[in-house]
Amino acid sequence: MSFQRKGLIFAKIYLPGMKNAILNILFILVLNISFLQILSAQKRSIDQKVDSVLNLMTLDEKVGQLNQYNDDWTATGPVTIDSNKVSQIENGKVGSLLNCMGTERTRKWQTIAMKSRLKIPLLFGQDVIHGYKTTFPIPLAEACSWDLEAIELSARISATEASAGGINWTFAPMVDIARDPRWGRVMEGAGEDPYLASKIAYARVKGFQGDKLGDINSIMACAKHFAAYGAAIGGRDYNSVDMSNRLLWEIYLPPFKASLDAGVATFMNSFNDINGIPSTGNKYLQRDILKGIWKFDGFIVSDWGSIGEMINHGTVKNGYEAALSAITAGCDMDMESRSYTNNLAQLVKDGKVPVGLVNDAVKRILKKKFELGLFDDPFKYCNTDREHKELNNPDHANAARDVARKSIVLLKNQNHLLPFSKNIKTIAFIGPLVKEVNQNKGFWDVSVPGVDSSYIVSQWEGLQKKAGNKTKLLYAKGCSIDGDNKDGFVEAVNIAKQADVVILSIGERRDMTGEAKSRSNINIPGVQEDLLKALTTTGKPIVVLINAGRPMVFNYTADNASAILYTWWLGSEAGDAIADVLFGDYNPSAKLPITFPLSVGQIPIYYSHFNTGRPAVSDDNRFYNSSYNDLSIYPKYEFGYGLSYSTFVYSNMLMSKKKMNVNDQIEVSVTITNTGQYDGEEIVQLYLRDLVGSIARPVEELKDFKKIKLQAGQGKTVTFVIDREKLSFYNQKLQWVAEPGEFDLMIGASSRDIRLRDTFELTE
Ligand code: BGC
Repeated sequence: MSFQRKGLIFAKIYLPGMKNAILNILFILVLNISFLQILSAQKRSIDQKVDSVLNLMTLDEKVGQLNQYNDDWTATGPVTIDSNKVSQIENGKVGSLLNCMGTERTRKWQTIAMKSRLKIPLLFGQDVIHGYKTTFPIPLAEACSWDLEAIELSARISATEASAGGINWTFAPMVDIARDPRWGRVMEGAGEDPYLASKIAYARVKGFQGDKLGDINSIMACAKHFAAYGAAIGGRDYNSVDMSNRLLWEIYLPPFKASLDAGVATFMNSFNDINGIPSTGNKYLQRDILKGIWKFDGFIVSDWGSIGEMINHGTVKNGYEAALSAITAGCDMDMESRSYTNNLAQLVKDGKVPVGLVNDAVKRILKKKFELGLFDDPFKYCNTDREHKELNNPDHANAARDVARKSIVLLKNQNHLLPFSKNIKTIAFIGPLVKEVNQNKGFWDVSVPGVDSSYIVSQWEGLQKKAGNKTKLLYAKGCSIDGDNKDGFVEAVNIAKQADVVILSIGERRDMTGEAKSRSNINIPGVQEDLLKALTTTGKPIVVLINAGRPMVFNYTADNASAILYTWWLGSEAGDAIADVLFGDYNPSAKLPITFPLSVGQIPIYYSHFNTGRPAVSDDNRFYNSSYNDLSIYPKYEFGYGLSYSTFVYSNMLMSKKKMNVNDQIEVSVTITNTGQYDGEEIVQLYLRDLVGSIARPVEELKDFKKIKLQAGQGKTVTFVIDREKLSFYNQKLQWVAEPGEFDLMIGASSRDIRLRDTFELTE
């Protein structure tokens, strides 16, 4: 590297944020570089700039860039308390901090980083999973909207707020396919289906990253957890995964690929092992697939401590071997295990790790720092005025309310009990969640420094605002979320008797789902369903709100409530959104992105299963077929299910042709008519079945959907295009192929409620 080139880099990295051009020029002149040289050098590509910085770095500084440390709070794993953090940052031994928020705090740490020899700025990462200050519905709830624009907007706003609060990197979206509601982290993803989850992954990455990294309201996204973490055996968090490569490619990898296609800047590997190899030390996943076949040029961060945890997995003996395994496999940054800090330089000196591997990891990280614009201004995300403005932007609450309404699933509505008339006289609002405030945030909310929770609309507040003066509201808690105390039942029954209608708000506590929150019992906890039983003795119509982070088992409620809204955890605007739906100011449109089982014994259950050699096709026949002798073959609520206050009729399916070859397409159109009394939205779903394949194919697979708005009485034609991509799958050799033969085409309102069918043929 020439002296001049070095000089330029010094100018860039020693004068970060210094706006004064004259000072810059004077400084550079001192370094004996001509102005023209500067101009041309400024045009150099980021790769060249990265190389220039890399060439200045010592091995220790390089290893430093690969370390991510926790700030002082919000830990999801063992924290290595480090009294030397300040001096380590001053000495260039840390590349990123997590759990450090707010402009004041991030500025404090960045100022310390600017005292280091090369002044390489820190990245600030945070789990901005479903909102920053404004809390949006938990991701699984949002996925029920099937509304990609609304989902993208929620990520966009989260990024805007987080970037105003000093953050430039979120550990989201979680794109793990999850088919086991016992797994606590099911709440963080988009459910069971690779097609829907991929669309949502794409939208979320676009939302977080905006038009381009470097824009002030853009933050890096992180597709996690690579890979197959959602398939932890038995739904037990951190557990092993055992799966064929074909299943991995067909079901678990597509949302990661979709994230990549959306330009995701980073990936996080996962705690689990796959077929005995921990993901963190898994070369096939990281180097071969991600950085090889997919040509990912961003960087991979480990999960919390997961490099060190390979010792517990039993695939390495100590930290030295753990670091060797992780860097060899392609893991670039070490979150909190300190395995790289403690061992990587030695591994290079011992000749175990070629310095090229370290250089590659460092370059990937530096590149993102350049793209974010941190070398130009390390404090660009530390503007207190902007923080204040964005964290108090009223538009954000409106967007949160909109997507919250779209996330509420209407599961039952006997005798059209809902929506309520605005003239209703007395409502008894009962249950342990009615007046809760923070519970509405769900798991993985962000505790923004200096911000209290007063902006969250409780369910009680929402209903009060909506009901106004005309309707009298009565309240009783009835019981707690868990525990067996029924003392409150009498009061609850008494107020129910005085009301025209009862709303009962029950469910989980928000910390019953999330990381390390796997449960073997997913019934509604405590005596909450007993409370419902007591209330049914009044003979009053009862609407049950189920607040939860996962699909739960609630057969008594399903059979005895008059109406059920599955509200999940809806975030800051929960109360208003629920009130909007109860009173028909929003007509529910959400559909389940995951199957709801009848009982825990039915898990795993998902709609796109194989037919098997002895398929069970009806509950009346269990003669030596694939079913449980003591359970229905059907789930409680199937994938794609969700009601509306309106009814939609599907008719007039037209196909442009009945035969196509692989380079061809078939257009399919159907007419959807809103035959109800309310304007509404319908999510029209297209499923395919490949009838004969070189390997077994699922009985149905979602391949497209359209969410359409229809006024009462209105009809619209929607058109789908069937092409090679929709007919393809991974064959035994992991080739992505469309095999000639016959296909079933199904269009419906859920995976079970198929309204129109036909067949077509893929020819040679
Ligand atoms: C989780 C990650 C998360 C990280 C940092 C881990 O325990 O698995 O999803 O991003 O902690 O909080």
